[in-house]
Amino acid sequence: MNVTAKSPSNIAIVKYWGKHGNQLPNNPSVSFTLSRCFTETSVTFEHNNSDKYELSFLFDGKESPKFQEKIEKYLVENQQYFGFLKGLDLKIESYNSFPHSSGIASSASSMSALVLCLMKIERIVNQDVTPINLQKASFLSRLASGSAARSVYPVMVLWGATPSVSTSSDEYAVPLADMVAPVFQTYHDSIMIVSNKEKSVSSRVGHSLMNGHPLAEQRYVTARHNTEQLLRVLHDGDVDEFIKIAEAEALQLHEMMATSTPSYRLMEPNTIKIIDLVKRYRQETGTKVCFTLDAGPNVHVLYPDTCEQAVKQFIKDELLQYCHEYKWIDDKVLINNM
Ligand code: PMV
Repeated sequence: MNVTAKSPSNIAIVKYWGKHGNQLPNNPSVSFTLSRCFTETSVTFEHNNSDKYELSFLFDGKESPKFQEKIEKYLVENQQYFGFLKGLDLKIESYNSFPHSSGIASSASSMSALVLCLMKIERIVNQDVTPINLQKASFLSRLASGSAARSVYPVMVLWGATPSVSTSSDEYAVPLADMVAPVFQTYHDSIMIVSNKEKSVSSRVGHSLMNGHPLAEQRYVTARHNTEQLLRVLHDGDVDEFIKIAEAEALQLHEMMATSTPSYRLMEPNTIKIIDLVKRYRQETGTKVCFTLDAGPNVHVLYPDTCEQAVKQFIKDELLQYCHEYKWIDDKVLINNM
C-alpha cells in the first residue's frame, strides 16, 4: 500500500530561536506558508510478520543516510505516537520542489510531509475514515522540527502561546488566515540565493547556543512583544509596521549568532549588499518591499501583489548580480492547503 503527502516550506517573520524541553519554543513565532517550495513524500508499506518496523529512505531517488538517521531517531524518541508502525516495512521516498543545493532549509516541509504520510498510514491501519487532524499533524511535526509545526496550515501561522490568541499553544501551531488582512494574503517571497552551500552551523546548534546566551532573555521579551505587535499589524493591514518588524526580527536573529559563544556568521557580503539595496530602493521609490532572513545567507524579499512588477524589475536590474549564478526562487504565500 502507498500513501503520499505534499507539504510546504514556510518563512518566519517573528523568528523561533531558542528552545527547551521536548522541542518547545522559548518564544512564539509567526510565518508565511510558501506555495512553490514544498516537499512531496510517498511511503510504500507492507506487513513484515514481526513486531518491529524497518525503513528505507530515498531523497531525490538517492539514499540519504543523514536524513534516514534523523527519521529513525525521531521515530524512536517519539515511539508512543507511532505504535501502529510495528510490523511494517516502510519505503520512504521524498523530493523537494526547490533545488537540493539551493541553501533553502527543507526540514519544515520534509518533516511535515513525512508526518502527514505517517498519519495516513495510521488511519489505514486503524480503518479510521475521519479527516486528518491538523492540530495533531502540527504537534507531531513540531517534535521533528520546530518550524515544521507551522507548515501544516496555509497563509500565515502562529506557533507558541501568546496572550491575544486564546487558542495559541507551544505544543502546536494555529492558522491565522482569518486574522490576516487581504493585503498579506497576496504577499510574494522572492528568495535571493546568495549561496547554495549547506550552512556551517546547523539550526540545532544555533538553538542550543541560546542557552546561557547573555542576550537571550532580552531576545525572548522582544520576540514576544513583536508577536503581539505583528498580530495587530496583520489584522490592520499595516504594511509599514510589518516592514519594521520583519526587518528587525531578521537582523536580531543574526545578531544572536554574532553574539553567541562561539560567535558565528551566516550572512555573506552579498547578503548585506542585497539588504542595503532593498532598503535604498524602498527609501527612493516608496515601494512597500522589505527583507527577511532565515538561518542562512539567502535573502527573502517580501512585497504585496500591488508592487509585483516594479519589485521584479528591481530584482532583475539590481539584485540578481549578487545571487549565486543569478539564482532566485519566485515564491508566494500559499492560500489553500496542498
Ligand atoms: O525548525 P528548526 O529547528 O530548524 O529552527 C528554525 C529556526 C529558524 O528557521 C531560524 C526560524 C524559524 O522560526 O523558522
